[in-house]
Amino acid sequence: MNLVLTGSTSGIGWETLLALLPQFDRVYLPVRNLGKAEKLIQHLPEKEKIVLIYLDLSQMTSVKRGAEEICRQLDEIHVLINNAGGMYPAGKKSSEGLDLSLCSNHLGQFLLFQELLPALLKGQAKVIQVSSEAHRIASPPEKDFSLRKSSSTVTSYAKVKLYNILFTNEIKNKYESEGLSAYSLHPGAVRTAFGSEASPWAKGIISFTKLFFISPKEGAATTIFLASTPKANLKNGGYYKNKKLSSTSTLARDSKLGKALWEFSLAEIQRIMANRSTNKQ
Ligand SMILES: NC(=O)c1ccc[n+]([C@@H]2O[C@H](COP(=O)([O-])OP(=O)(O)OC[C@H]3O[C@@H](n4cnc5c(N)ncnc54)[C@H](OP(=O)(O)O)[C@@H]3O)[C@@H](O)[C@H]2O)c1
Repeated sequence: MNLVLTGSTSGIGWETLLALLPQFDRVYLPVRNLGKAEKLIQHLPEKEKIVLIYLDLSQMTSVKRGAEEICRQLDEIHVLINNAGGMYPAGKKSSEGLDLSLCSNHLGQFLLFQELLPALLKGQAKVIQVSSEAHRIASPPEKDFSLRKSSSTVTSYAKVKLYNILFTNEIKNKYESEGLSAYSLHPGAVRTAFGSEASPWAKGIISFTKLFFISPKEGAATTIFLASTPKANLKNGGYYKNKKLSSTSTLARDSKLGKALWEFSLAEIQRIMANRSTNKQ
């Protein structure tokens, strides 16, 4: 059994790795900081099962390269956990000119999924998205999926966490008949490095409220539950909280919106890749 897990170098992802490592034969960890990851895993038992792959989700060129490397080494993936993400100041751009919240929380994951799709299909995989209850405060995004018009850190974060659920639903709609299943989840309010790259005021509020948050180990429980539970006991397309099926906002169940987000994401990826080849010439 092969696992691909993003965001393993901190918080919820690290605890997820510790719990799932014994359950898998090979564990691929796409990370943006190889030095940090190497240090963290050096004393892990069974560390020989782990393969670190350089992959910065905020840069589509890096996602493509990292995913190609994974596909060169693995032809079958059984679980993909899109855990990496965070809160970034509204309007902050990636080196490719994309909104940083959009690409780090959604577009990078979307491209990773597309690139890994043959191996995911071969493994009849589960795809798990770490979303958030923050999705409930997202306003309808159809006119600005790109977040270019967003002027609030929290609003941008709420939208990308809504995208995680819409993306999950669309994976189910498009690929259930081919054997894929997809789940999204809220981990709880968890005491991690979350918010460390947010705007100063958002960072301040998060640091204060963290005093009341649950531990990363507790925060990883629902991800671990979804990765370990047989598909037959889970609801494909379901949103989970506290290891239980839960309901989402009405917006997150809007299948027209899910389809529109999918089309937008495909078009954005194509645009960036086309720019990349033009710049290379
Ligand atoms: N903590 C909460 O209360 C809470 C609540 C709801 C949802 N969530 C969600 O839970 C997930 C995990 O967050 P966490 O709380 O564990 O936060 P965290 O401690 O900050 O961990 C985030 C992880 O994502 C990685 N990451 C961030 N941007 C990346 C990029 N561009 N490319 C590759 N990796 C990247 C980080 O890598 P580095 O180690 O290099 O920084 C780190 O491993 C996130 O999706 C977050 O939105 C958290």
